[in-house]
Amino acid sequence: MLAKVEVAFKELLACLQTAKMYGIVHPMFQKSLEKVYVVFEDALNDRQEIVIGIVGDELACEKEIFFDLGKLLRPAILYLKERNIERLAFYRGLSKEELGKFVGIISGPKEDFKTNPQQLLIFAGIENISIGKLKVSSRQDTGTLEFNQLNLYDFSMHKVAQVISSVLNLEKIDPRMLKLSLNNIIDSLSMQRQELLKLATVKRYDVEVYVHMLNVAIFSMYFSSRLEFEKNDVLDIGVAALFHDIGKLYISRKTLHKPDQLSEQEFNRIKSHTVLGGEFMFKYVDSLGILPVVVSFEHHLKYDMSGYPRMPLLRKQHIASSIVAICDVYDALSQRRGYKQDYSPDVVYSIMNKDRGRSFDPELLDKFFQFMGLWPIGSVVALNDGSIALVRQESERDIRRPKIEIVSPEDKKRLVDLTQDSSLCIERYLNPWKEGKEFLRLD
Ligand SMILES: [Fe+2]
Ligand SMILES: [Fe+2]
Repeated sequence: MLAKVEVAFKELLACLQTAKMYGIVHPMFQKSLEKVYVVFEDALNDRQEIVIGIVGDELACEKEIFFDLGKLLRPAILYLKERNIERLAFYRGLSKEELGKFVGIISGPKEDFKTNPQQLLIFAGIENISIGKLKVSSRQDTGTLEFNQLNLYDFSMHKVAQVISSVLNLEKIDPRMLKLSLNNIIDSLSMQRQELLKLATVKRYDVEVYVHMLNVAIFSMYFSSRLEFEKNDVLDIGVAALFHDIGKLYISRKTLHKPDQLSEQEFNRIKSHTVLGGEFMFKYVDSLGILPVVVSFEHHLKYDMSGYPRMPLLRKQHIASSIVAICDVYDALSQRRGYKQDYSPDVVYSIMNKDRGRSFDPELLDKFFQFMGLWPIGSVVALNDGSIALVRQESERDIRRPKIEIVSPEDKKRLVDLTQDSSLCIERYLNPWKEGKEFLRLD
């Protein structure tokens, strides 16, 4: 039976080699992952877990030492030891995605593993693998660090904030960690869609560029994943969206937040954030790729080729820029909701729709609202019969008629699918800080 474990481990190391040579997005890696997953699955059919330890310079499994394998794979053993990994355990239930993420993580630089390598796995949401020093004997010992599912989201947000400030200080960043964080954020959002509302409305008094960049990243990832982009592309678009306004952080706050009319010079200064941002992200081409440069540069170009920066040779916006442009305007307009009664979601919708075909790709804009719904989930709305409801789920068939939960009056409390009940309709949006406040529950 141990022969299967031996094969599994050999394949795992081959897969690690492929990841280091080609990166984890390359088809070669996917092929190799496919192979290693099949053998792991097979080996885990016979047992609950596979535990492999490094004893001295040899590999051991279930008290048996694979001397031959040890000799053959000495560089690999050294590689793992350098990463503080002396023990690897794989549990039944292991998914291919987890295995892929795991190989991605251990293919990273050894500096990442300085503290507790298990943290990296927990951070990546890998539940069925544990790694660490030999003395660690049970899964519980390693699996319940301070990172539980609940604060994974906050932790990821914190990581993203750290990367943004590193970029501003021109410090080295870890693109893998950034993508993992964005991945965790989008995963938590799909598990708990109300988070979108929290982000999109509750913190609206804070109109910092930073909050805006994060919001645009989240909207862009949500939008592109609904457009069925591949996961890696979704993350790349998220990264590009995250930095789209980075150039603005170099423009004085005084100019950015000036309440009255801007002079031509000041306006030109603000417009320059696109070129500034593009130049800035160019310094990170090696780690983040070209997309952040393209999106920083292009996100104010419009669908009809107007907008800025003006270019001598006109060419169509990159699809990632078109996605970010929609999310950018949506967030900027929605932010005003906090203090301006007139920017309710339906107003945002009609303002953006006026620009359909001019600023925005019409098909893409329709899709955006189809996925987002007209009323964000969690919105407090007044119905035509005077009752108050919370929006629970958007309806792709008719964006004006989502599924709602009537919360007041007491005797009318119930769930209603507005596409099924033509007697009811949404009449008005209630500002969540004012008249809507008492009905708002963030559960
Ligand atoms: Fe911008
Ligand atoms: Fe923006």
